Amino acid sequence: MTHVQSGPTATQILAWFGADVIKVERPGEGDPTRGQLRDKPGVDSLYFTMLNSNKRGITLNPKTEAGKKIFTRLIELCDVMVENYAPGAIDRMGFPWETIQKINPRMVYASVKGFGAGPFEDCKVYENVAQCTGGSASTTGEIDSVPLVTGSQIGDSGTGIHLVAGILAALLHREKSGRGQRVTCAMQDTVLNLCRVKLRDQQRLAHGPLKEYPQYPNGKFGDAVPRAGNASGGGHPGWIVKCKGWETDPDAYIYVIAQVQAFSTLAKVIGHADWLDDPNYNTPDARLPRLAHIFAEIEKWTMTLGKMEVMATLNPLNVPCGPILSMKELAEEPALRKTGTIVEVDHPTRGKYLTVGNPIKLSDSPSDVRRSPLLGEHTEEVMRTLVGLTDAEIQAARQQGAI
Ligand SMILES: CC(C)(COP(=O)(O)OP(=O)(O)OC[C@H]1O[C@@H](n2cnc3c(N)ncnc32)[C@H](O)[C@@H]1OP(=O)(O)O)[C@@H](O)C(=O)NCCC(=O)NCCS
Repeated sequence: MTHVQSGPTATQILAWFGADVIKVERPGEGDPTRGQLRDKPGVDSLYFTMLNSNKRGITLNPKTEAGKKIFTRLIELCDVMVENYAPGAIDRMGFPWETIQKINPRMVYASVKGFGAGPFEDCKVYENVAQCTGGSASTTGEIDSVPLVTGSQIGDSGTGIHLVAGILAALLHREKSGRGQRVTCAMQDTVLNLCRVKLRDQQRLAHGPLKEYPQYPNGKFGDAVPRAGNASGGGHPGWIVKCKGWETDPDAYIYVIAQVQAFSTLAKVIGHADWLDDPNYNTPDARLPRLAHIFAEIEKWTMTLGKMEVMATLNPLNVPCGPILSMKELAEEPALRKTGTIVEVDHPTRGKYLTVGNPIKLSDSPSDVRRSPLLGEHTEEVMRTLVGLTDAEIQAARQQGAI
């Protein structure tokens, strides 16, 4: 019972782990993402196909009489029910948790909502709302500039992944107790969990003045954790610097971490062996007010090399760094294809497309990625073989608009 991104992320991972996931969609309409952000007319969008692989797809309206019976039967038969509709939507269909528990006491019932109990519990929530209300936007962006959302879907996909952890724990608990349970994840909570280090910094601010980078990059702080540009969250000075070709290539940059252990090596490589004997540079405290200058000097060196050359030079010297890789570069990266993290899938109506495979690798249970189902592709099969309907009952359910 999932739509859009958060719920489908969770069930897709379960499907990759081998679960028989049956995606339930509204007859005639389906998940709205089938038609959103289309790149080809009339076929399921990449938004949908990249979030619903390895699932069977049925159409079912639990608000009809026949649909209620079929849905009840599915609750009896299934191990886990996942939903991410607006607060109360499944209750309004006639299936509150108490009813689900009565139908199947072993059921694990998992939900994503925007907020937990509190003033906003009834709100509908999308990705960027969660990023803004979970502490990500207030701590992301240039120093002294506006809050920014990030491209990582920490609210949607992040919450889906958290939900998977809860579902698997509940299944293990059920193995021992014989009872299912309710699993809930709020998107605000997930974003806050992923922004844990910023709540750490909030408390550190209260016990200031703090010297460690990046708490006081400009010496002026209010009473809340500020945006810190590209400073690293771990206390080691780090920044994004230009590489050769930056004038025309928007991704010709690399992140360099000037951590204590690697600083002397880094200084020598960029031609600043003089810093090692200079009291203005040879301790972390002395460097703190000079970080902008230090990274400008690092950048003079990185601008003479391609980002992969910088990586190839610094990595063997144990200077941590990471090139800014574009989506184009990632899509074409052979190593990611080899590990199954980027996968090409064939689809009967849209043809070949790329998707991100299972990022969680199990040694005995490798995941294969199979295409997403067409709307209602497995309705008859599931009604006949799992629910146990006769042809006449299937026909009648169709006439009622139940499937
Ligand atoms: C994502 C979200 C904002 C979308 O809102 P929306 O498009 O208005 O959709 P809703 O969730 O309100 O669901 C719409 C209706 O479809 C109905 N519906 C869903 N599946 C159905 C089915 N198989 N048959 C019949 N009706 C169905 C629901 O019952 C609901 O009807 P109701 O409002 O009369 O009770 C909302 O679902 C939400 O806040 N979800 C929880 C948080 C979340 O997961 N957000 C991130 C999504 S990536």
